[in-house]
Amino acid sequence: MKINKCLFPAAGYGTRFLPATKATPKEMLPILTKPLIQYGVEEAVEAGIRTMAIVTGRGKRAIEDHFDISYELEHQIKGGSKEALLSEIRSLIGQCTFSYTRQIEMRGLGHAILTGETLIGDEPFAVVLADDLCSNGDDGVLKQMMEVYDRYQCSIVAIEEIPLDQTHKYGVIAGDLVDNTNDTYRVTDMVEKPEPKDAPTNMAIIGRYILTPDIFNILRDTKPGKGGEIQITDALLEQAKQGRVIAYKFKGRRFDCGSIDGFVEATNYFYKGSY
Ligand code: UTP
Repeated sequence: MKINKCLFPAAGYGTRFLPATKATPKEMLPILTKPLIQYGVEEAVEAGIRTMAIVTGRGKRAIEDHFDISYELEHQIKGGSKEALLSEIRSLIGQCTFSYTRQIEMRGLGHAILTGETLIGDEPFAVVLADDLCSNGDDGVLKQMMEVYDRYQCSIVAIEEIPLDQTHKYGVIAGDLVDNTNDTYRVTDMVEKPEPKDAPTNMAIIGRYILTPDIFNILRDTKPGKGGEIQITDALLEQAKQGRVIAYKFKGRRFDCGSIDGFVEATNYFYKGSY
């Protein structure tokens, strides 16, 4: 089955960026002139997706306004040199539909994904965490993952090797290489934010997923885990036990823009690339 929809969980508080995120969604923080979530939507479009489903929360209205026409502004700059600055976002608005639902209580990423069920329905879907900004020319990470999904028809997680002392920040997998590839694993175990001594490997899940819709029923039964939050890693482990999760070591670079270091690194990287 084709992947037609992309879910963007964007309800988190973004406390690491306070006070900037007091009244501005973390997903609207810009790398150069483009907000993080716009990069995510562009990556989904490049992967052939046109239906964007966004899980928001209180104080996140700016996301909806961003993916809408701003008549007054557009009227003001029409015909001038600045009009071109809106061409990318206009093109996205023209090609895609955007729908929204609110997560009322921030009970974790797994809970945010479950909240998105109403927008996704009973079909496989992609998930992008906009604060993980990925860059790989035209062959974006989600596009790469679509090819893996076409082959295996089960849930896919994007992974990256990280320094062992960083495992406490990620979901970490263990798996068996499949089909003589050197980048694709069938997942056998997953642990959310383990201490290095408890980590099965140094292969960490980043903010890109393709999920089969049975994940919703699993999430409904998933108890709060690490940090008292409903963790997508715990739900995925249930699918992994049935051999239905593939981990894919993606090509490209990822910046953790949910952290200040990663945000600054991405800003420098994109700045250098743009001049
Ligand atoms: P983070 O772990 O980065 O949390 O969430 P956060 O609240 O955004 O940021 P900090 O840690 O307070 O600085 C990972 C992703 O999951 C979403 C976030 O919006 C982010 O995209 N999320 C997390 C939700 O949508 N709802 C939640 O309840 C938790």
